[in-house]
Amino acid sequence: MSKSFSRRGLFQAAPLGAAAAFLTPQHAAAQEQPSAIPSLKFDIEAQTHWKGEAGSANEATVAEFPISQSIAGVSMRLKPGAIRELHWHALAAEWAYMIEGRVRTTVVMPNGQSAIDEFGPGDTWYFPRGHGHLLQGLGPGEAHFLLGFDNGHFSEFGTFSITDWIANTPPEIASRVLNLPTSTLAKFPKKEVYIGPGEVPKTILEEFRLSSSQTSQFAHKYRLDMQPPHVFEGGMEYIVQQKDFPIQTTFTAVKMILQPGALREMHWHPHADEWQYYLSGQARMTVFGSHGRIRTEDYKKGNVGFCPQGYGHYIEQIGDQPTEVLILFNHPEFQEISLANWLGGNPSSLLSANFGIPQDAIDKLPKKERGIIRKS
Ligand SMILES: [Fe+2]
Ligand SMILES: [Fe+2]
Repeated sequence: MSKSFSRRGLFQAAPLGAAAAFLTPQHAAAQEQPSAIPSLKFDIEAQTHWKGEAGSANEATVAEFPISQSIAGVSMRLKPGAIRELHWHALAAEWAYMIEGRVRTTVVMPNGQSAIDEFGPGDTWYFPRGHGHLLQGLGPGEAHFLLGFDNGHFSEFGTFSITDWIANTPPEIASRVLNLPTSTLAKFPKKEVYIGPGEVPKTILEEFRLSSSQTSQFAHKYRLDMQPPHVFEGGMEYIVQQKDFPIQTTFTAVKMILQPGALREMHWHPHADEWQYYLSGQARMTVFGSHGRIRTEDYKKGNVGFCPQGYGHYIEQIGDQPTEVLILFNHPEFQEISLANWLGGNPSSLLSANFGIPQDAIDKLPKKERGIIRKS
């Protein structure tokens, strides 16, 4: 028996008060309160990761927002005609929600099928990890959209652009693969373009270069704002899970609208982190992280919020205007346990004993979730 094991035996035999006298430094450290919950808020719109004449991108990855290891986000803007060049993400699938304007996308799948789609406000896309894609602003006006990635590390070493690859390939190899003379290759960009200018396309979609290409049989587009919402007394939620949108295998996406004074009730998500982007209005989220740890922060338009998997939380709407929040969960199925349902699923006598309150008070407790509670 090891020395440390025999110490543990001593602890088990001794009453709680007596045990404290035998604390080793290691035991003392283990009994300390866990560290406080770090900030769960990041102002993505206050950053500029990349800016050029044709567009811009602001990032929230683990480099900027370390608490979110599972989900990263980019707020991207494209001028009319601008092209976010052909690229893929080695580490992450890409989800997007169109906030303003219009975008055309192309995507190629491993089975050789391709897709061209167009997106307007309220529409979402999902490109599985590694599938090559391109985005183009269609105008009129700037296109603004939120991108979500199912890996907080997606950006650094994880985004592969076509111009970057060709520029760093020996010309004799590129010449053989691309079927072009080296004199033409010399005119290619010398480094990654990322976002470049382009012409607004003709209204009619062009054919694929390979006329026998099969159109993708897996829809990449889901019109989130066009589906019937879940309506509650204090607001509503549009929810899309994989069962509704089969290609979306790693996310559930939600658009939540809180009316003034509303309260998104106390709940938690058993198997997913919650990543938020505030589209409009203001809110105050409070997160419970066990052992008495609580963190409350205020959020406004352009802020990103995060709640780790399994942490309890609630959201108070603040301000006169409704608050709109886009939410990503890193699981294809939506799961939630509300405090109200939990209370409804227990006998009154046990709750009375647990809380030490009389039966008439127990009778007032909610029995069923209300989702978003209206202004009191
Ligand atoms: Fe992408
Ligand atoms: Fe939640």
